[in-house]
Amino acid sequence: MATIRSYAFLFFASALLLCQLCFAAPVAVGHDGRAITINGDRRILISGSIHYPRSTPEMWPDLIQKAKDGGLNAIETYVFWNAHEPLRRQYDFSGNLDLVRFIQTIQKAGLYAVLRIGPYVGAEWNYGGFPVWLHNIPGIKLRTNNDIYKNEMQNFTTLIVDMMKHEHLFASQGGPIILAQIENEYGNVMRPYGDEGKKYIQWCAALAESYHIGVPWIMCQQKDAPQSMINTCNGLVL
Ligand SMILES: *[C@@H]1O[C@H](CO)[C@@H](O)[C@H](O)[C@H]1NC(C)=O
Repeated sequence: MATIRSYAFLFFASALLLCQLCFAAPVAVGHDGRAITINGDRRILISGSIHYPRSTPEMWPDLIQKAKDGGLNAIETYVFWNAHEPLRRQYDFSGNLDLVRFIQTIQKAGLYAVLRIGPYVGAEWNYGGFPVWLHNIPGIKLRTNNDIYKNEMQNFTTLIVDMMKHEHLFASQGGPIILAQIENEYGNVMRPYGDEGKKYIQWCAALAESYHIGVPWIMCQQKDAPQSMINTCNGLVL
């Protein structure tokens, strides 16, 4: 009897282990007005940036492990449009630009990922990460309520979101990405854009929501961030 029971136990234990190896469990990310919650618990995220194009895939595990050893529980990166789409509709996700591999490396280290898609980025990166061909499209106006620009932004953003979904990298799918960002620090520059800027931010929020990624979206420095977008800030509270 005892033997049967221990066999049964072993069977269940190994089945459980196998399940954990095959499928990472979906994680519920939310916010309650004061904190980000993960599976219902308030969590303090201590996240650091690693911009994947600035190092090689061989370096990533070590960089991420150092971040973890230093006490971080999340890695944050922008997505660099002009590196991924140097010519219109010609993409590069190879080598240092292998975003999927980078996010998977974060997951293997047991950390969360924060994906700041933008696609406008800061990071002392040329032209906010916008491709030069974008600048050269007749009639385009960047980062405002301009159909030509919005079409291109939507095209690239959709590509990235679909790629992450396909690889099951959002936390809602068992992946490490707990937060995603649309636009970036626009609130700091939006005034001269007037009403067109306000419409643009509404459009960004609607676009983000339309993807149904199952984790919250953040905007950065966006006091008027539309409902469901979390407004985050740059700064130090003393
Ligand atoms: C992006 O634009 C190309 C045409 O230039 C189109 O074939 C493709 O379907 C678009 N992708 C999305 C996600 O809209």
